Amino acid sequence: MNNYSVEYPPRTRVRTRSFNPETPMPAPSKVERELQNFVKSVRSVARRNTKFQHGPSTLEFSHTSACNLRCVMCSQSDNLPVVKADPEKAAKFLDKAFESVVIWNPSATSEPLLNDIDDMVRTCVEKGAWLELYTNATRLTPAVYEKLAPHIHRLTMSIDSHVPEVLETVRWPVKASKLFPNVEYALRRGAELSIPTIINAVLMKETVPHFADLVDWVADRGGKEITVLDLLDSSSQARGHDAIEDLGIERVQELLEDMRERAAERGLNLTFLLPPPLAGRYTNVENPTRIHEANVVEAVQEAHASEMPGFCPMVASYLKVMPNGDAYPCCRAPHELKLGNVYEQPFEEVWNGAKAQSLRSAMFQNKPPEPCKNCLVRAKNLADVEQKIVESGDWVPL
Ligand SMILES: C[S@@+](CC[C@H](N)C(=O)[O-])C[C@H]1O[C@@H](n2cnc3c(N)ncnc32)[C@H](O)[C@@H]1O
Ligand code: SF4
Repeated sequence: MNNYSVEYPPRTRVRTRSFNPETPMPAPSKVERELQNFVKSVRSVARRNTKFQHGPSTLEFSHTSACNLRCVMCSQSDNLPVVKADPEKAAKFLDKAFESVVIWNPSATSEPLLNDIDDMVRTCVEKGAWLELYTNATRLTPAVYEKLAPHIHRLTMSIDSHVPEVLETVRWPVKASKLFPNVEYALRRGAELSIPTIINAVLMKETVPHFADLVDWVADRGGKEITVLDLLDSSSQARGHDAIEDLGIERVQELLEDMRERAAERGLNLTFLLPPPLAGRYTNVENPTRIHEANVVEAVQEAHASEMPGFCPMVASYLKVMPNGDAYPCCRAPHELKLGNVYEQPFEEVWNGAKAQSLRSAMFQNKPPEPCKNCLVRAKNLADVEQKIVESGDWVPL
């Protein structure tokens, strides 16, 4: 080596979507719009503007509220009437929303794969959108998976348990023998294609005793992520499945600790979306992810979120629209936070209407409305900010 040679660090391998001439890439103007939209969102929040100049970057919208399952803890088990979107009104609304939206979650507390799959793919291609899919995986056959894969930002499969009897009890009337091949295929292909793939499990008295073994089941199939969800009181049966009431907090803590240890042994990441002291994120393995617009947008937004303590990141950039047009500022969609109706009002009147502005104003003043007070999304934002302050003593948010 002479004096002038330079040793470069090993190159980081960035995996990208492999080129497929039949899958047109979104027009570059959309990327430019995404960047401008993000910069405007930073400006709006930093200036404490309640009227936003940016649009939502994540949209939760499904054409139908239907589901093919009746999971015991879910509101679907109460057999709510099915609502379908008016196709013309929905198309008009989507044209406007996708001017800024990059990440599309095609759900409405429903099953996204009951939507027309070809239409979903077409929307992604035409609008430059990426799918945030939460699915029960019953319809995620290998053929459907391969159709959707080029457009998936992240795939979450809700199975709750790998134990057939438990799965079939809590996710009625699913058949384990039909479901597991779909889940196994998606886990394997997700690892091959570097698509973030998560298994969701709700903390219930039937599910938590098997969580440590669920880690093995997922790891054996190439999975690297499990998220444990807090049981919300969403259905008339939900409370009857409460693990803490049934087993006691100490036993639940022990079982989660067993799960955590097993995940460390098997190199699998865990997210406990649970109230304190059970909450936590345990990273045991790097999970290579292909790079595209949606995870760039998500990464910059996460960085932005920790600059706005107490201001819910969802209120900054999320919009949920039910098939009947009712719009909400977050995935939980509490009735009190309804912003308006996108079929009955112009988009601007909903996104920047009096209800939206008053919610933003309350967030800026750190006086969140009742439904936001104990919400885990806002609690996580506050915890992240606190952590940042602890780590760098002289840091102050924007
Ligand atoms: C309502 S589902 C809709 C998407 C899709 N049908 C599915 O099951 O993934 C979204 C997530 O909410 C979870 N979920 C349903 N009821 C819940 C409850 N009472 N508490 C916490 N999570 C719940 C599901 O298990 C799933 O992971
Ligand atoms: S959790 Fe998902 S699959 Fe189960 S009933 Fe609810 S919407 Fe359907």
